[in-house]
Amino acid sequence: MNLNLIKSLVHEAATKAGFDAALEKVHVEKTKNLEHGHFASNIAMILAKSAGKNPREVAEAIISNLENENLEKVEIAGPGFINLFMSPAFFQQEFKALVENTDDYLKDVLGFTPEAKTMAIDTSHPNIAKPMGVHHLLSTIIGASIVNIYKKAGWKVVNDNYLGDYGTQFGKLIHAIKTWGDQAKIEANPIDELQALYVKFHEEVENDDALEDKGRAEFKKLEEGDAENRELWQKIKEWSMMEFNEMYDRLGVKFDYINGESTYEDKMEPILEAGRKSGVIEDGEGGAWIIKAEDPDAVPIMVRKSDGATLYMTRDLARVKYWDNEWNPDIMVNVVDVAQSLYFKQLEEARQKLGLTDAPTIHVDFGRMQFPDGAMSTRKGNIIKLIDVLDEAEERALKLVQEKGAELSEEEQKDLASVMGIGAIKYNILSQNRVNNITFDWDKMLAFEGNSAPYLMYTYTRTKSVLEKADSLGGDLNPKEPQELALALQLLMLPDALQRAEEEFKPNHIANYLYELTQLYNTMYNALPILKAEDEARMTRLALTNATGLVLKEGLALLGIEVPKKM
Ligand code: ARG
Repeated sequence: MNLNLIKSLVHEAATKAGFDAALEKVHVEKTKNLEHGHFASNIAMILAKSAGKNPREVAEAIISNLENENLEKVEIAGPGFINLFMSPAFFQQEFKALVENTDDYLKDVLGFTPEAKTMAIDTSHPNIAKPMGVHHLLSTIIGASIVNIYKKAGWKVVNDNYLGDYGTQFGKLIHAIKTWGDQAKIEANPIDELQALYVKFHEEVENDDALEDKGRAEFKKLEEGDAENRELWQKIKEWSMMEFNEMYDRLGVKFDYINGESTYEDKMEPILEAGRKSGVIEDGEGGAWIIKAEDPDAVPIMVRKSDGATLYMTRDLARVKYWDNEWNPDIMVNVVDVAQSLYFKQLEEARQKLGLTDAPTIHVDFGRMQFPDGAMSTRKGNIIKLIDVLDEAEERALKLVQEKGAELSEEEQKDLASVMGIGAIKYNILSQNRVNNITFDWDKMLAFEGNSAPYLMYTYTRTKSVLEKADSLGGDLNPKEPQELALALQLLMLPDALQRAEEEFKPNHIANYLYELTQLYNTMYNALPILKAEDEARMTRLALTNATGLVLKEGLALLGIEVPKKM
């Protein structure tokens, strides 16, 4: 079921009643109190205001045109709310479709068409030769969830990791490796050693002005294809990928492509040339090449420096063109922190002006990672390494599992701790609205109560053990008790949560939905007998239990989170 269906019913009735109501004006919500029906709309109040009429009269007029086999009853409440009660048959039929084939049901409700649209998306994109920090989780985890959500909604998705593998800093690093580096030491501990060499370079610059030039010269050689430098750079990349892949494995994240910045080295020239020819790229200050922004107060978009060097922007534009050629996507998405907003505004403007593709580039931004004590990094100002955070998550989860003392073998405890620890980190991020700062709170994310992965996982295993004991997945849905009805209604709102998450690129709509579902299931579980209930009630409650388990598993998968077998 989907609110859009209810919305269009109300819209149609309002139109028939002679009101000129735009569909966007029609708001329908799931009711908080089931005595007020299943859904409620405030449209009559909105229309009455602009028409200068009594809202209850407007509601009357709409209701007299509201007719649908799926509606059992419609009522006017308070100042003019329209309350809708759906028929039991409608619930049954929707519920059946959801449980029998969730994928088809979702695509059906969301109006998926066979000609799937394509999204190309850039997520994670760490810079090589530097360790992945805890902040890299944001783009990686939010991006991976958006990929899952779009696939589930019927899109084709190409996930391309725009690795930071190019730039003048590699000239400096190459100089440092040649001067102070020790291959064996690097091989043993690649990224830390490379990072240390890079830091050394910057320390030495203080006493030796000539170093900057030496670094620049090494980068120039790299650009010109010098064999030794190419090989060194290639190695830096391989060493880095070894460590990155370990992180990606532990996080269960996969990419279709890893086209790093270096992919576009030889793809910038044609874009610059075409832009010069069309006049979109103009001469700027000091001989730089620029694209003028539409807004006269905005800074021009620089695409070539006065010394002829290309910029980060130039490579991104080449990427946009490349994506268009390769996959012809309908939208291009970049999951990057909010600090880059201006940059992505410029990229979108340049994309349009240069006519690189018809697909809009969309910046899916997110806030900064914040710790409860306000700290963003360790005391020395170093970043908090991702590997340490993943280790800590699994250690903390293991302690929790041991405290809980469930009957699990040592092996099972370890597996559970890994599923729970990684799941807790992901859920913590994805349950927050990405546009705000994301709080990283160990205690909250690893609690068995509250809006956390362990709470959802625990409830999932609860549904499984109920079904196991019952030896049945339940029967027809005949909800009578308010707890059953509320749960049934929530289960049917899955497509709605998916749609909102899709439209707004916000996985937290899924997380919030699942949290509410979990609470409603536990309310029923605590209030009503399931296994010991009489026939019809037992069948209904088991069916609800089965559907809850199914939807929890499905929903958590959209967040990239596995469910444990036992807990
Ligand atoms: N590698 C960059 C960094 O870590 C982020 C890349 C963002 N994506 C993009 N298309 N510009 O700062």
